[in-house]
Amino acid sequence: MSEIRYDFGGGRSDPGTFPAEALKAAAIKVFDEQWRQMNDYPGGLGHAGMRAAMAQRESDRESVAVDPDHLILTNGSMQGVTLTAEALQDNPGDTVIVEEFSYPGTLGAYRSLKYDMVGIRLDEGGMRMDHLASELERLEAEGRRPRFIYPISTYQNPTGFVMPRDRRLEMIELARRYDIPIVEDNCYADVHYEGPVEPAIYALDDDPRHIYLCSLSKILAPGLRLGYILARPPMLGKILARRHDAGSNFLAAAIVAEFYRDGIWSHAGVANAALKTKRDLTTAGLKQELEDVCVWSNPVGGLFIWVRLPDDVDRSKLRTLTLERGFNYLVGSSFHYRGKDVPYIRLAFGHLTHEQISEGIPVLARCIREARTSNEPRGFDSLFM
Ligand SMILES: Cc1ncc(COP(=O)(O)O)c(C=O)c1O
Repeated sequence: MSEIRYDFGGGRSDPGTFPAEALKAAAIKVFDEQWRQMNDYPGGLGHAGMRAAMAQRESDRESVAVDPDHLILTNGSMQGVTLTAEALQDNPGDTVIVEEFSYPGTLGAYRSLKYDMVGIRLDEGGMRMDHLASELERLEAEGRRPRFIYPISTYQNPTGFVMPRDRRLEMIELARRYDIPIVEDNCYADVHYEGPVEPAIYALDDDPRHIYLCSLSKILAPGLRLGYILARPPMLGKILARRHDAGSNFLAAAIVAEFYRDGIWSHAGVANAALKTKRDLTTAGLKQELEDVCVWSNPVGGLFIWVRLPDDVDRSKLRTLTLERGFNYLVGSSFHYRGKDVPYIRLAFGHLTHEQISEGIPVLARCIREARTSNEPRGFDSLFM
């Protein structure tokens, strides 16, 4: 394998907009003013200022009141994924509903906990409610009521699609009918480029069973390891009861709270503009190089483009060729809830330079053409089968 020059693999924020100087200034202030608290354990909920800042972020976006005391700071949203899955599990083998293609970290956590995953088909509006309804009916008839539903309803990973409001309301109705909590993962919240911002589930339904997960990884930086869970009592207590780590990093939370003293929106505006340019460069490259062969998503937010390959691509040959030429992507199977080998790849564009994107997409295109067994144009117009 040669050195990776075009790394479209992991979903990361744009290093060019990382606010190093402002965070340094915030850190100095925090050490001056909050050093005493650093001699204590932060406790289950975590840094009060950071919780207030994130409650404000949520209220600003969703136009509903959010109580900072219902926010649990976590070590990235991934800790929220795991803690909630543990809190909601009765026994290994319990059923959980996921999207057919979902975030590999979550799928890995659910596999480790021995959840039995049921995958719901996706389309351009996210999880399909007709399929969810029929699967819930089937599971109910089999006496297998799912412990919860896990949608990534905004800028879905890996497809980038957003679930429209009406579909969210349908999901809420189904969850109510079958008495199932929804664990909404809004990890990409505020990585927004254009179009309407659809409301979060918790803003549409104040049912205290539902849980909301969010992160600072994509709007600021993943190395800070900051995320949060929004849950109401008694669910809040149930989740906190699973927590045995005495809370998450006080220093990181204190610095970021200071940095976001006036809200998250001015920095988000700068970061999103830079990411949008990269999305446009990536989709323009795909259009130029692969329009006759592939179909892909054009995300209105988030960090990913989901690409459908023609069936006659030898997918292991494609992997070998691309790695030999320094191009990395994530294979479709890592997003499938059962690890099925599928003709898709995911491209993450946030971390690359403009040059890497412009040079990299033609490399990918050549590899795809060489890994095919024909020169026929693609036989499909839709991203989904
Ligand atoms: C949907 C989703 N949830 C959660 C995470 C975990 O992110 P973090 O723990 O950095 O907040 C990711 C990371 O890519 C993700 O895509």
